[in-house]
Amino acid sequence: MRSNPEQNYKLMTFSSSLIYNYLLLFILLLLHTPTCPAAGGSWTVLRSSIGISAMHMQLLPNDRVVMYDRTDFGTSNISLPNGRCRPNSNDCSAHSVEYDVASNSIRPLMVLTNVWCSSGSLMRDGRLVQTGGWADGYRVVRTYRSCNTCDWQEIRNGLAQSRWYATNHILPDGRQIIIGGRQAFNYEFYPKMSTTEKALSLPFLVQTNDPNIENNLYPFVFLNPDGNLFIFANNRAILFNYSKNQVVRTYPTMPGGQPRSYPSTGSAVLLPLRLKQGKVGAVEVLVCGGAPKGAFANANRGKFDGALNTCGRIRISDSNPQWLMETMPLARVMGDMLLLPNGHVLIINGASAGVAGWELGRNPVLSPVIYQPDKKVGSRFEVQNPSTRPRVYHSTAILLRDGRVLVGGSNAHDKYVFQNVLYPTELSLEAFTPSYLNSSSSSLRPRILSPQTNTTINYGKRISVKFTILGRVDPKAVYVTMVAPSFNTHSFSMNQRLLILDSSDSAAAVGRVDYKVSVVAPPSGNIAPAGNYILFVVHKEIPSPGIWVHMQ
Ligand SMILES: *[C@@H]1O[C@H](CO)[C@@H](O)[C@H](O)[C@H]1NC(C)=O
Ligand SMILES: *[C@@H]1O[C@H](CO)[C@@H](O)[C@H](O)[C@H]1NC(C)=O
Ligand SMILES: *[C@@H]1O[C@H](CO)[C@@H](O)[C@H](O)[C@H]1NC(C)=O
Ligand SMILES: *[C@@H]1O[C@H](CO)[C@@H](O)[C@H](O)[C@H]1NC(C)=O
Repeated sequence: MRSNPEQNYKLMTFSSSLIYNYLLLFILLLLHTPTCPAAGGSWTVLRSSIGISAMHMQLLPNDRVVMYDRTDFGTSNISLPNGRCRPNSNDCSAHSVEYDVASNSIRPLMVLTNVWCSSGSLMRDGRLVQTGGWADGYRVVRTYRSCNTCDWQEIRNGLAQSRWYATNHILPDGRQIIIGGRQAFNYEFYPKMSTTEKALSLPFLVQTNDPNIENNLYPFVFLNPDGNLFIFANNRAILFNYSKNQVVRTYPTMPGGQPRSYPSTGSAVLLPLRLKQGKVGAVEVLVCGGAPKGAFANANRGKFDGALNTCGRIRISDSNPQWLMETMPLARVMGDMLLLPNGHVLIINGASAGVAGWELGRNPVLSPVIYQPDKKVGSRFEVQNPSTRPRVYHSTAILLRDGRVLVGGSNAHDKYVFQNVLYPTELSLEAFTPSYLNSSSSSLRPRILSPQTNTTINYGKRISVKFTILGRVDPKAVYVTMVAPSFNTHSFSMNQRLLILDSSDSAAAVGRVDYKVSVVAPPSGNIAPAGNYILFVVHKEIPSPGIWVHMQ
């Protein structure tokens, strides 16, 4: 076809303007199409082996982490010190270690009785008091106070009742409550008021139990700021007055009625408690993941059902509370839910099929997810960068004072098995570093100047917090949080609690890069039981390194 030059020119401008328009459209689409939110965070292997598989973890107020698995796993990969061996046994290996965060080092500890699937809580004085376990450990109470040479102390028959798979919580009076466990439809306290103090019955644990599955173990327990306990088991919850042994209210069953407790192991958090003028705002609980009804029986027959991809969120302080159901981007069973210092929720570890128990999980979920409670429904979840190591049954995760998350454990076998299995026993320790610690935001990151670490804070008193931020500061984007270090095992963090402190004024400059903000300490032990907390200054959702404070 022939054409004159003018036509050619028109054709050219027409087609190039077409290309231009298409390009513009494409760019606009790129900008406006809701894409999957950017992945964030990074993973670091801290130690390829700590010698044991970290099945239980607790951060202590000296930035060491006590960990243990079980005493009848056989020989672990770390020896007891000084050529010691277990009594009446040829096992000379350790089943508990202390990890020092600062030096990234490990010290083996001697735990005598079986701590398998036990529970615990930090006491006011910084000791870990851990309870129960299996066989010779059923009724044992063990305490661990950290020092360079310290070791476990054990109290035989410290419990009134055998406890295996129970949940503990610290109470405002300084005691712990220990709730449930296999065939233990009751609760008790430690320490006891008298040697004859018995366990008290809790029919809710009978009502939520399917005897063939025992599907309400490791109940999710939170101290409600009104002084009662919120107890969730299987697919529903109660508010419980433990002094009076009385159910104060019964919450509706979660829509769908699917089980969320062990072995259909989901996880749960008490969402951040926002304090204002001596009062707590809405009190909300978030329960995520689990495995559908029948999944346990199916998994035992070799059929691995897909995990639940839903979360239920409930405002437990409402007069007529209802569950709001939300959908996670990734289905998950055996995930851990952790409160990050900025009030976001990290969902980490676990699998997308099967249930908890030996050999019963499949398809590990390697990517954590962050949930932002204050965003609009539908835009709260953000998938994070994946690890390369499956962390299935018996894996753990806890928050460290520097804002990283320590991740360990995973053993789906009833011995240490390193070869010829789907998911070998994990002895490694990793850190998940949320994107708030990335170097590009370091100029926005606060550093606390005062108070000093280990400061005592009194209920209801005003605290002046001084900090430095090198970059451009938005005074309105500064807030102060306090996080209780929790005891983590079997996808639940006992005592997990985050308070957003009341600051009447925005942060104010007191120097070129120095600022101060005045906050009020929590008003009472119902809101923050006495003991150790990590205090963070957060700026634009980026937390400072925390400092230890002692609430009293
Ligand atoms: C804070 O207290 C812990 C023990 O609870 C102690 O190990 C640490 O050295 C103290 N830190 C400072 C700076 O005093
Ligand atoms: C643990 O010890 C066993 C037996 O000595 C060995 O085969 C295995 O590689 C070790 N595992 C790790 C992670 O160190
Ligand atoms: C529980 O009941 C006891 C006895 O009636 C009462 O003294 C206490 O205040 C109640 N606890 C709460 C948190 O309401
Ligand atoms: C660093 O973190 C900030 C805030 O958390 C985020 O906006 C930014 O995209 C991150 N940058 C990188 C490189 O991950």
